[in-house]
This record gives sequence, C-alpha cells and structure tokens, in this order.
Amino acid sequence: MSEMMAGGASAAVAEPSVLVPQVATIRRVTEETPDVKTFQVVFEDPGVTEDFAYLPGQCCMLSLPGSGEAMISITSSPTRRGFLEFAVKKVGIFTSALHELEPGDQIGVRGPYGNHFPLPLMEGRKLLFVGGGIGLAPLRSLINYVIDEKDRFGPVSIIYGARSPEDLVFKEELFHTWAALPHVSLHLTVDKGDASWEGHVGFVPAYLEELAPAPEGTTVITCGPPVMIKFVLQALSKLGFPPERVITTLEMKMKCGVGKCGRCNIGGKYVCVDGPVFTAAELAQLPAEY
Ligand SMILES: Cc1cc2nc3c(=O)[nH]c(=O)nc-3n(C[C@H](O)[C@H](O)[C@H](O)COP(=O)(O)OP(=O)(O)OC[C@H]3O[C@@H](n4cnc5c(N)ncnc54)[C@H](O)[C@@H]3O)c2cc1C
Ligand code: FES
Repeated sequence: MSEMMAGGASAAVAEPSVLVPQVATIRRVTEETPDVKTFQVVFEDPGVTEDFAYLPGQCCMLSLPGSGEAMISITSSPTRRGFLEFAVKKVGIFTSALHELEPGDQIGVRGPYGNHFPLPLMEGRKLLFVGGGIGLAPLRSLINYVIDEKDRFGPVSIIYGARSPEDLVFKEELFHTWAALPHVSLHLTVDKGDASWEGHVGFVPAYLEELAPAPEGTTVITCGPPVMIKFVLQALSKLGFPPERVITTLEMKMKCGVGKCGRCNIGGKYVCVDGPVFTAAELAQLPAEY
C-alpha cells in the first residue's frame, strides 16, 4: 500500500516545506462530545493533499491567524485517502476559536511532525489498544490502519474509557463500525454512568486489570491523560507485558514541532522529533518529567 494520503501522481507540485502552514478548508465537522469536535479538512492546493504522506502517530500544527496554533494528532488513517481528520478538545484560546468554525472555513496546517507508531513491533501480533478520553484520537488513526490492513496484523482488542457516556469520542465507530467487526473486541468503561448506561463503570487501569489480557504474542498501544498512562503502565507490568512491547504517545507542550525551540524536551530527547511515540522501555530510560 502506498503511504500517501491520496491516489494519483502530482507532477507539477513542489514538495511543501513542513515549516510552512498550508491553507486547508474544513469539509466536515462532527460533534463527538460536548467539548470535542472532529474536523475533516482538505488542502486548498489538491497537490498538497495528494502528496501529504504520514503514518499513524504523527501530528500537525494547526493555526488560525489571531488565535494561535496547537499541535494536534492526525486521527484519520493514511489508508483513507484524500483528506485529514483532527479531533480537538476545547481547552483554551486556539481550540475554542477552532470550535467556532464551520464547513467552508479555512485553517493553516503544517506538518506532519514526530515519529509514528512502530509498525514492525505490531505486525503478525495481537494488538491491545488502551485509551482514555481524547487519547483515542491518535489511536483511532492506527486502529483504522490495522483494520484496513488486517492481513498484516492479528486480532484487535480495544479497552477505552471516558469520564461519562457522553464523553466517549468516535461513538459511530465504537458502537457501529468497529463493534460490527468479528476480529475486533471492544471493552468500554466510564468513570460515572448515567440512566442510559448499561456498560462497565470504573477507571481504565482497573478495568484492564479486571480483564487481565494475556501478554503472550501481544503488543499494547496506549494513550490518554498522563495519570491514566501511569497506572496503565503499572497494570501492564503487573500482568507481565514486557516494556519493549508497550507503546505510548506523549503530549508535552510544543511550539515549533521541529526540534528548534527546546520547549518539549525530556532529558536529552525532544518529544516533537524523537517522539511523541515511545515504548515503555524507552520511557524508563528518561527522567520522569512527562
Ligand atoms: C504531540 C501532541 C499531540 C496532541 N494531540 C491532540 C489531539 O489530537 N487533540 C487535542 O485536542 N489535543 C491534542 N494535543 C493537545 C493540544 O496541543 C493542546 O490542548 C492545545 O495546544 C491547547 O491550545 P489552546 O490554545 O486551546 O490552549 P491554551 O490557551 O494554550 O491553554 C489552555 C490550557 O491547556 C494547557 N495546554 C496547552 N497546551 C497543552 C499541551 N500541549 N498539552 C497539555 N496541556 C496543554 C494550558 O496549560 C492551559 O491549562 C496534543 C499535543 C501534543 C503535544
Ligand atoms: S516543540 Fe520545539 S523543540 Fe520540540
């Protein structure tokens, strides 16, 4: 499979610099939760869309004149071509301005930045995804990638939780698309249920321990709030998962995205270029500043 975003060669288009924001038009806005929206965008220059190559785990710096910029994971899979998707939680100045936008509005997109999930550590193995809240955004890119390339990967299990049922993101995939696939098993949990919730209630790390998946032949990929990741890593260690088969992605504060400003370092590593994806074995070698 080509890793390119869209099919077809583009003879006339020069390689865009990853430092230059490209103008992109919002094609669709999906309201995932009260404070998370997914933006599907296409570049104004179709050649940029065609040439934009990335892999799951990479990010882009999104920008709006007058409101700033923010690093956001690409949540679409490179196997689904012709657009990019970003799921954005409204937390501050830039993300609130982005949430005001509608289809037809334009934003700046530069990237892709960072490393990607290490596919060779996953090929031919069972995959266990453990996500919390908006942390499902980078995992969704990889989940749809392995679903589309299912001959290269083993069966998929997803343990995902959010604060409440309405805070679960990507409900269409969780309750319909992924739920319907025979090689995907889903385990959802919420911190606090409501009148309509008949599923599991409890924190993600505790649910992981309760489900007690077997470590043999499995690679784990986890993303969520730092406190969740800390307890998930502890639970995985207790269950016997070797740290070199546990992969996570960090969200340090970033500015340049290209290893120039020093904003995102942990010890000698720049999360924007050496990460954001690390194995638990690599994290164990770093100072606990994340
Ligand atoms: C590699 C990477 C991938 C990311 N992927 C996503 C994603 O897919 N979806 C998403 O919604 N967010 C993602 N983030 C977080 C996102 O970049 C921040 O939420 C965003 O920068 C906030 O911008 P703002 O101007 O709205 O907030 P601000 O007004 O700058 O700040 C609002 C609050 O958020 C805090 N904050 C600001 N930046 C960050 C940050 N990078 N990490 C944690 N807290 C921060 C501030 O301290 C403040 O408390 C990612 C961050 C990184 C580094
Ligand atoms: S964000 Fe500037 S060095 Fe990483």
